[in-house]
Amino acid sequence: MVREWDPRNASSAEIASLLDTLNAVLAADLPEDPAWRENSLREYLTEVMPGERRISWVAQAEPAADGTPGAILGQVHVLLLGDIGVLEVLVHPDVRRTGLGRTLVLVAARRVYQEGFRSIGVEVVGDTPAVAFYESIGFTREYVETRSVLDLSTVDWSELTAMAGGIGAGYHLEVFPGGPPDELIEAYARAKAEVRDVDDGELRPSSYDPQRLRDSLDCLHRRGMKPYIVLALHEQSGEVAGLTEVVVPAQHPTRADQYDTIVVQEHRGYGIDRAIKARMLLELRSAEPGLAEVQTWNAQANEAMLKVNAELGYRPDREWCEYSVDVAELVHRLDAGR
Ligand SMILES: CC(C)(COP(=O)(O)OP(=O)(O)OC[C@H]1O[C@@H](n2cnc3c(N)ncnc32)[C@H](O)[C@@H]1OP(=O)(O)O)[C@@H](O)C(=O)NCCC(=O)NCCS
Repeated sequence: MVREWDPRNASSAEIASLLDTLNAVLAADLPEDPAWRENSLREYLTEVMPGERRISWVAQAEPAADGTPGAILGQVHVLLLGDIGVLEVLVHPDVRRTGLGRTLVLVAARRVYQEGFRSIGVEVVGDTPAVAFYESIGFTREYVETRSVLDLSTVDWSELTAMAGGIGAGYHLEVFPGGPPDELIEAYARAKAEVRDVDDGELRPSSYDPQRLRDSLDCLHRRGMKPYIVLALHEQSGEVAGLTEVVVPAQHPTRADQYDTIVVQEHRGYGIDRAIKARMLLELRSAEPGLAEVQTWNAQANEAMLKVNAELGYRPDREWCEYSVDVAELVHRLDAGR
């Protein structure tokens, strides 16, 4: 039974059942990833940036004889942003290969089509059944990144302290748990705009103008994801020369997500990349004692960043692929196959 589902007013039992399915999916497909927790899961599924919408559907088993509602065995949601819909689908391992995944994608794709969006994008984790699934329904691979994971128990903290101090004269580092202060937002946005021209095809929205940046930090907080920011400030100009962002999600607080790291072109060559990332890890060690790992995603061509990550102890883990499809073609193909 597939129906539209709004996590905002779903029962706690439904949220808990979805969490069970998500954790069964992780155990089957990504057994080394930490299980998710219920903390802020509803908010994670509900909150979006201004101007974006997320629409969800669930597949629920039949109620039991005593009327107890059936488990949530599958879910799909699509985030409508810009001119694309970003899709996520999951099906409990016990009920896979019965056509449920395809049915869920068709329901979401029909809506995306009706809403006038042209294409659908999806992030697909390498070496999981999702690769064959999306390829079988006509998605094509656009872009591949490598996910790497750092196990904090392997870190040499004294070496890291030296790295954090190894920054060129004329710069200093500042750490901002929760996000940069408002007086630095404009300089922060200017630094982020640096990489705007590098169209890396990412599905994750980036924030380049000050208001969008404030909205994005606010959205992270509402979703239960705590940002930490380390900035390298150029003392002479007051400009942000480099920045790195890590988020500790309430849903999996033992594994943080390393987001953007940017060193502004004219400030490259002063050890800023290494220093800000090392300083970030030192901060996380004291501020988040429950944290065990940090994961990050990099373009395979980004050799400089991969080298610094390797020095810090990050180990490549999985391919992370972006696939996309033309919505009209997808709907016609799936309808024809029914
Ligand atoms: C990808 C996924 C949604 C597929 O769900 P499903 O219900 O098993 O998919 P369907 O039964 O509709 O399969 C449709 C077609 O996809 C292909 N396919 C699906 N799984 C496959 C697999 N393991 N191997 C090869 N082909 C596969 C087949 O062509 C299949 O058709 P067939 O069964 O008639 O041969 C499911 O495996 C899943 O939830 N994966 C996790 C998704 C995810 O988000 N992972 C990342 C975070 S953990």
